[in-house]
Amino acid sequence: MIHRPRRNRKSAAVRQIVQETQVLTSDLIFPLFLTEGKNASSEVKSMPGIFRFSSDLILKEIEHCMNMGIRSFALFPNISEKLKDKYATESYNQNGLYLKSLREIKRYFPESCIMTDVAMDPYSSDGHDGIVENGEILNDETLEVLGRMAVAQAACGADIIGPSDMMDGRVGYIRNELDHAGFYKVSIMAYTAKYASAFYGPFRDALDSAPKFGDKKTYQMNPANSKEALFEAQLDFEEGADFLMVKPALPYLDVIKLLNDHFDIPIAAYNVSGEYAMIKAAAQNGWIDGEKAMIESLTAIKRAGAKIILTYFAKEYAQLGKY
Ligand code: PBG
Repeated sequence: MIHRPRRNRKSAAVRQIVQETQVLTSDLIFPLFLTEGKNASSEVKSMPGIFRFSSDLILKEIEHCMNMGIRSFALFPNISEKLKDKYATESYNQNGLYLKSLREIKRYFPESCIMTDVAMDPYSSDGHDGIVENGEILNDETLEVLGRMAVAQAACGADIIGPSDMMDGRVGYIRNELDHAGFYKVSIMAYTAKYASAFYGPFRDALDSAPKFGDKKTYQMNPANSKEALFEAQLDFEEGADFLMVKPALPYLDVIKLLNDHFDIPIAAYNVSGEYAMIKAAAQNGWIDGEKAMIESLTAIKRAGAKIILTYFAKEYAQLGKY
């Protein structure tokens, strides 16, 4: 035999020098759930190890993460039901939970990178990402709300705006609104290929944000399609996105690769709540090795072409000390 591939696998040292992909803690963005109250935290039942924190405790959590080498965070609010309405007006309330906490985070941790979420669902009494009328999700009317939300977040120090709503034209609309308000340095990470997925369940538990009727299939993508992802990516790129994201991650590695092959801006992937919950549940049952499954998952996502990974595993991964 001339070729013996096993030669390159013969020892840990050799395997290490030929290893193509290494996930670093600095590739990761850690999603955080914010809730009302003081000194309050509650574990998300379907996401063991992940908590909703009141704004004072979220500062402590961020400090802890920063000490572990995690510098980037995606912030999501759990809004009390009584503040929700049809037009998500709480989303741009400067004295509301989210924006107040965002200002505080950036005051205490100016060197952190905070990605904010732009979509109506956490604030909407309908639980949808856009304005609902007669059971329909309105596109262009929703853009105005999204634009207002994005500018309000930028004014509080958001580093990256993350439109997760999947309305048509929102990246361009938000870019324009941000620039007009003078926030040309604020980036946009477009949720470019966001699929109508069963893997968002635990996240909706965390935020109590499940749709009150129907599903999200008229705006989120059909899991069966990949050409459509390219089309969405082309639009987001032209509209000024700084990053393109694929979501969920593991079931869509082909889509991550597709976007990475076709676009020269960084590709991100969201390793979503359901992907986290599956590994945690199986590990708790002793059915798989949770740590190995985490490392394998994140490595596969990066190998497919995602430079950036949003993941609930960020803290656990950071403990491995790979920077
Ligand atoms: C909604 C939003 C969702 C997630 C992030 N932003 C869920 C949804 O579309 O219903 C899911 C993230 C996760 O599952 O971890 N704008």
